[in-house]
Amino acid sequence: VGRWWAGADLNTAGRIRFVNRLAVPPLARSRRDAAGRRVFDLRAAAGRHRFRPGRPTPTWGINGPHLAPTLRAVRGETVLIRFRNDLPETTTLHWHGMHLPAAMDGGPHQPVEPGATWSPTWTIDQPAATLWYHPHPHGRTAAHVYRGLTGVFILDEPEPPQLPHRYGIDDIPVIVRDINLTGGNRLDEGERFQAGVGIVGELVTVNGTLAPYLPVTAQRIRLRLLNASASRIYRFGFASGRPFTLVGTDGGLLPAPHGTTRVQLSPGERAEIVVDMRPDERDVLRSFPPRTGLNFWDRRLTGGDDTLDVLQLRAAPRLDPSPPIPARLAEAPRPAAPDTPPDRTFELAKYTINGKTMDMNRIDFAVAHGSTEVWEVTAIDGSPHNFHVHDVQFQVLSVGNEPPPPDLRGWKDTIHTPPNVPIRIAMRFRSHPDPAAPYMFHCHILNHEDRGLMGQFVVT
Ligand code: C2O
Ligand code: CU
Repeated sequence: VGRWWAGADLNTAGRIRFVNRLAVPPLARSRRDAAGRRVFDLRAAAGRHRFRPGRPTPTWGINGPHLAPTLRAVRGETVLIRFRNDLPETTTLHWHGMHLPAAMDGGPHQPVEPGATWSPTWTIDQPAATLWYHPHPHGRTAAHVYRGLTGVFILDEPEPPQLPHRYGIDDIPVIVRDINLTGGNRLDEGERFQAGVGIVGELVTVNGTLAPYLPVTAQRIRLRLLNASASRIYRFGFASGRPFTLVGTDGGLLPAPHGTTRVQLSPGERAEIVVDMRPDERDVLRSFPPRTGLNFWDRRLTGGDDTLDVLQLRAAPRLDPSPPIPARLAEAPRPAAPDTPPDRTFELAKYTINGKTMDMNRIDFAVAHGSTEVWEVTAIDGSPHNFHVHDVQFQVLSVGNEPPPPDLRGWKDTIHTPPNVPIRIAMRFRSHPDPAAPYMFHCHILNHEDRGLMGQFVVT
């Protein structure tokens, strides 16, 4: 603590000076090919990014030195991604939250060698949502994501709902990542990074900006929050106590907007919130100590007692009028019986699921095409974990024996698993059967995933 300039190393609440204007990742340009597909060209390479004064930091990025452009596509469109790997290492590109054929998933079974190109294509067939993309090479995911390979993938409906939607003006991605920098401004991948809990960084970056402020020019803004950190859990709220509206979770908009003052995100989770500001107001988006169910020591180790300032909002003297928030938002899960018995159970521990460590050559089970299954997931070793399933958006049936709280009533692809609390989720497998190409399920604490807290299933 206390190493950074201006006296703010850890983004400790109330101590930070917001000196840098928030960067917004550019929207990726796309073109139409003869078949009418929307084509994106992505190229991963090493670069340098200036986080703070002094030497620029060696980083990785896509179509730029750090992070990746925002992709945007409309439901019903077919996309084609032409991805070239100009990194010195084999990587992959995974579309987190996307329903798509397993061979296009970009998990560990679709490696892209240095100098090689990979061109997945699929049709967008799911509700509007904030998804994201990142590498997924087995054993190296944490490092590749930490160096900067992270982008947002926005899905829209053909007719967008009446929410703020001018990208970068009143509709803003907020990619939150914690990092550690050495004295020479290198990304610290030392001991702490390798430790079992994963990295817990002292510096919180938003869209690659340290100590960021966002000039607000509209009465109402939509923030698409993404926890792209390796391990840290954030519990977002405003320093002033300002209420805001949660409108969407991982897989789309909620059935009804939910007024609240806090939203918690474990690694990989997203939330779309709508915030109202008055002219000349200022406020700070802060992360309060998350509710994790962890004991004292595990909380300390994982930064679970930290209160961190994330992003300052600065409203202009005059603000554009904004659309109302519609009363009903989207295709949402229907209430389901919380006591439905599970078809499968999963016990998460360091670093196993049901006692088994990840093996690229082992398929853990097959699910039938078109089937709906209920899974019960429990973290059994007292450690922080979460659970992510590829290809599907699931519905949360229960947390413990209780029905899900309002912020878990939308579509989810990743969920925090407090110690010893069974969580039941239901999902439908509608992918094309492919017994040869597995999908993953895993803990999204990336160092846990890399060490084997992951398994594979196929749809048949
Ligand atoms: Cu965000 Cu299996 O990944
Ligand atoms: Cu874990």
